[in-house]
Amino acid sequence: MAPMLLPLLLAASAAHASSPRKRSTTDPTQLSGKTFDFVVVGGGTAGLALAGRLAEWTNITVAVIEAGGDGTDVRDQITVPGMSYLNGLTKTAYDWAYSTTPQPNAGGNPLSWPRGKVLGGSSAINGGFWCRGSQPEYDAWNTLQNGATGAEDWGWTRMQASIKKAETFTPMNDADAARSRCSTSPTHTGRTGRASARSSL
Ligand SMILES: Cc1cc2nc3c(=O)[nH]c(=O)nc-3n(C[C@H](O)[C@H](O)[C@H](O)COP(=O)(O)OP(=O)(O)OC[C@H]3O[C@@H](n4cnc5c(N)ncnc54)[C@H](O)[C@@H]3O)c2cc1C
Ligand SMILES: *[C@@H]1O[C@H](CO)[C@@H](O)[C@H](O)[C@H]1NC(C)=O
Repeated sequence: MAPMLLPLLLAASAAHASSPRKRSTTDPTQLSGKTFDFVVVGGGTAGLALAGRLAEWTNITVAVIEAGGDGTDVRDQITVPGMSYLNGLTKTAYDWAYSTTPQPNAGGNPLSWPRGKVLGGSSAINGGFWCRGSQPEYDAWNTLQNGATGAEDWGWTRMQASIKKAETFTPMNDADAARSRCSTSPTHTGRTGRASARSSL
């Protein structure tokens, strides 16, 4: 795939009712001479979440600039998470394909370090596993902030609320839940978020 710049333009205030609020283009000149309230560099997992949240404010404009393509030509490999490990995009043009520095504790070897180079970033080439940390882990993370202002945002209570906001969770069927002794409570999981998460055996 030819490398290209994909500026994704999220114009928050539409001039006419018929204009889309959200526009994407692979033509960088479309951004020339324009100004935005926020420019997010990197349309990966964090960048798109940030841009999406900013764009919830209808009084501002947001531009996202992504180094890779939009991935439409490899849609299945991106949207079917199981393909990630069987027929995924690692070691293709959609992967920055870094390697680590050879170091004694890795037997002197470099190791492969994939990172997504496409809209969606590494979440476009990953396994789609939805993994939450546990309460003690988030609270330990919180203490790493050394009491900085807003540090409580990284603790369990606030993280749990944000995770619930992000997800729509579907529990596994009763038979599998009984077999695996896995229980979930609706109060612990989200029902209306964009990320569809499902537990299964
Ligand atoms: C193969 C693989 C499997 C994984 N499996 C899982 C999993 O199953 N579950 C899980 O939770 N996590 C998994 N992860 C980890 C998870 O995907 C990453 O931690 C997460 O996506 C990182 O998000 P990020 O926003 O920090 O970076 P990224 O999502 O990598 O986003 C960075 C973006 O910035 C772009 N960019 C970089 N430089 C520039 C530049 N100069 N100009 C413009 N754009 C630029 C990149 O192209 C990329 O799109 C996996 C990761 C990999 C690589
Ligand atoms: C946009 O709206 C938000 C939410 O009402 C407000 O907090 C913010 O100050 C506004 N920003 C600008 C640039 O008007």
